[in-house]
Amino acid sequence: MLKIFLRTFFSFGVLFGLACSLQATELSLPRRSWFVDMSKFQASSHGRLSCSECHSNIEEKGVKHPDPQLLNRSSTLLYDYQRCERCHPQVYQRYLKGAHARALIERKKDAPTCGNCHVSHYVIALPSRLEVGRWMTEMCGECHPAEKRTYLENYHGKAAATLGYEASAYCTDCHGAHTCLSLKKKETALEACQKCHPNASLRFTDFVIHASKEGVKKEDVEKLNKLNVLRWVEIGFGLLVFGVLAFFYSHTLVWILRKAHEWLKRK
Ligand code: HEC
Ligand code: HEC
Ligand code: HEC
Ligand code: HEC
Ligand code: HEC
Ligand code: HEC
Repeated sequence: MLKIFLRTFFSFGVLFGLACSLQATELSLPRRSWFVDMSKFQASSHGRLSCSECHSNIEEKGVKHPDPQLLNRSSTLLYDYQRCERCHPQVYQRYLKGAHARALIERKKDAPTCGNCHVSHYVIALPSRLEVGRWMTEMCGECHPAEKRTYLENYHGKAAATLGYEASAYCTDCHGAHTCLSLKKKETALEACQKCHPNASLRFTDFVIHASKEGVKKEDVEKLNKLNVLRWVEIGFGLLVFGVLAFFYSHTLVWILRKAHEWLKRK
């Protein structure tokens, strides 16, 4: 009785914890409105700054706040993020060296700036590595859904994000926070792996972290080949398991038939 009680109590605890953590991640993803919730702002890391530390006029090409033309859109992509540099110079420099800044400058893609990942009015220092990790899995996953899915199917993601094993890797442990480097080159990938697998060699990087063809370009022959091999191994294992089970069940069936036969004979 006590056991059942404890078990029920425990699973409710887990569910409750899960619900809370899900809610927490949702709240910290960038979803903006022109309304600034002052109690949330004051409770944030920036709570003691005055608005003018980060804002002068909210304006684009002569159109000024509160003109409805401007109010209809979010200012995330208009904001001058150089203003963040004054207080966060290292982060800013790292961001400039990273893949997102390069995509923004060279390829003019909608790559994220500070405001796509952080809600500047409500940023708080998250208390644990696990919470930071779960938050970034959701946040990065909004724009990289295939990588999020494959990460969560992979050893690291299952251990780190799902089971809360903090020694395992979150997105930025491999890609770098703010640099968010591409790890297609084996040498770069190896450097990332060696942070936690110090004895790893180049061959170690053959392990596929994101096992999905989604978004993989045709020129990336190596990855496509690896994925094909993985697919055949999967099919092979599937057939093996199916074979073993089929043998097991037919064996049991024959055995039952024989027992029944013996029993009927004895009668
Ligand atoms: C006038 C200085 C100042 C400016 C400008 C500023 N910040 Fe901050 N920021 C701070 C301070 C102080 C903290 C709290 C640091 C701490 O608690 O260690 C902070 C904390 C943060 C955090 C949370 C850090 C953590 O511990 O997790 C983030 C994210 C952040 N700022 C992003 C930004 C962004 C994005 C901008 C530009 C829109 C910006 N900041 C502009 C002073 C500033
Ligand atoms: C692609 C998403 C992304 C972008 C863009 C981004 N950040 Fe971050 N930022 C993160 C993540 C994820 C973390 C937590 C990473 C960690 O601790 O490993 C973080 C942590 C921080 C922190 C606290 C920890 C630290 O390293 O000091 C500050 C401050 C911060 N960011 C400021 C900024 C500023 C300023 C910009 C713009 C120049 C920016 N971020 C752009 C994702 C981003
Ligand atoms: C740490 C810097 C910082 C401080 C302090 C700050 N803001 Fe902002 N604010 C931003 C950034 C950055 C944006 C652009 C959206 C984003 O990236 O979060 C923004 C956007 C806005 C917007 C437009 C909202 C939207 O959806 O685009 C309003 C309105 C605003 N801020 C008002 C205020 C007021 C009022 C205060 C003072 C209570 C304040 N801000 C303090 C950084 C700051
Ligand atoms: C607002 C959307 C957005 C968010 C949020 C975002 N990214 Fe990106 N990311 C992009 C875009 C757009 C590119 C450029 C893609 C391209 O050039 O084809 C990119 C590029 C990258 C690249 C390099 C790809 C290459 O081919 O060079 C990596 C690695 C990456 N992101 C990882 C991350 C990680 C890790 C996070 C979270 C910390 C994150 N991204 C958050 C949109 C986003
Ligand atoms: C254990 C290390 C590791 C973790 C954790 C990890 N990745 Fe990766 N990621 C890689 C490697 C290695 C590659 C390059 C090989 C490939 O494409 O499969 C890569 C490729 C990518 C790419 C394609 C762009 C490129 O050229 O590298 C994106 C985007 C990306 N990861 C995003 C993410 C996001 C988002 C997360 C978290 C949800 C994440 N990664 C977690 C190791 C990791
Ligand atoms: C932040 C730390 C961290 C990073 C970075 C990291 N891993 Fe891991 N990885 C772990 C932990 C912890 C385990 C669990 C096994 C253990 O305890 O040794 C693990 C397990 C593994 C496993 C399966 C178990 C085993 O040891 O055979 C493989 C394969 C693996 N990692 C590959 C990689 C590759 C490839 C990279 C680089 C692209 C990488 N890891 C980057 C922490 C990390």
